[in-house]
Amino acid sequence: MDYVMKKTFPEVVYLNGEWLRQEHATISVFDRGFIFGDGLYEVIPFYSGKFFLKDAHLNRLRYGLNQVHIDFDVSRLKPVLEEAVTKVKLGEQDGAVYIQITRGVAPRTHYYPENVTPTILVYAFPVALKGFDKRFVDVLITEDYRWHRCDIKATSLIANVAMNDEAIKNGFHETILHRQGVITEGSHSSIFFVVNNEVYTHPEGHYILPGITRKAVIDLCKKLDVVIHEDPLKIDQLSEVDEVFLTGTTTQILGVKSMIMNGEVCFKKQEAGEITKRLQHAFIALTAQ
Ligand code: PDD
Repeated sequence: MDYVMKKTFPEVVYLNGEWLRQEHATISVFDRGFIFGDGLYEVIPFYSGKFFLKDAHLNRLRYGLNQVHIDFDVSRLKPVLEEAVTKVKLGEQDGAVYIQITRGVAPRTHYYPENVTPTILVYAFPVALKGFDKRFVDVLITEDYRWHRCDIKATSLIANVAMNDEAIKNGFHETILHRQGVITEGSHSSIFFVVNNEVYTHPEGHYILPGITRKAVIDLCKKLDVVIHEDPLKIDQLSEVDEVFLTGTTTQILGVKSMIMNGEVCFKKQEAGEITKRLQHAFIALTAQ
């Protein structure tokens, strides 16, 4: 998480209809987000104060809310997002807005309680979004032991955090996950492979988050006439892979230098490949529009 400029609390946050100093923004211990991780989140980037792919992020949030039957009209967030950027005086800067919606406060039950008002939290924070194309990172590979609905951007991220913590503690940038040898995605990023100048990424479905940046990169491939396959890749195919890169809202497009599993090197390169670089440059142009 070295891309986050300052690991401090935001000064102000929006909680359930009002902007408060963060130290005064508190929720009930019976909030189902706290008790069960029963909530969803989104992270929407802004470049020079201007949101990037905002509607795509809000549509994914709407999809997730429908899937878990949380009744909240996402369009109500639109003015709050604009306020979030101006409240923290990031109008001309790069950053992101974090949105979290939990089912709300109710006596603890192992089913969805009725007539509960969702808890809404929004805040903006600065992110160093420039310079990602100069970085080249090492990643760890481990078994994907998350649940089978990774398409829902749920706040219950204990498996993601546990798997990524192993990478961070051992000096890696990210943990890449596999199910029975099939590479799915990163703990907090999507993954792409280049083989013989053609690009591969895991198809959408229940095993990956439908990454907004992933989709933007797929569209860029099409625009640049780079053949793109939404097909999974297995660990034992990594020896045939020419380039690997990660994508995500704050990750953007990050070249991968090495992939290590159980101490064995599965992939290693000296510098980012040509297709990675082309996509990075096209992405920079897109975010500057
Ligand atoms: N993470 N896969 C997972 C599991 C993720 O958590 C993320 C994003 C991605 C990339 O998706 P997108 O391009 O929409 O950011 C893929 C966010 C940023 C986070 O958890 O903070």
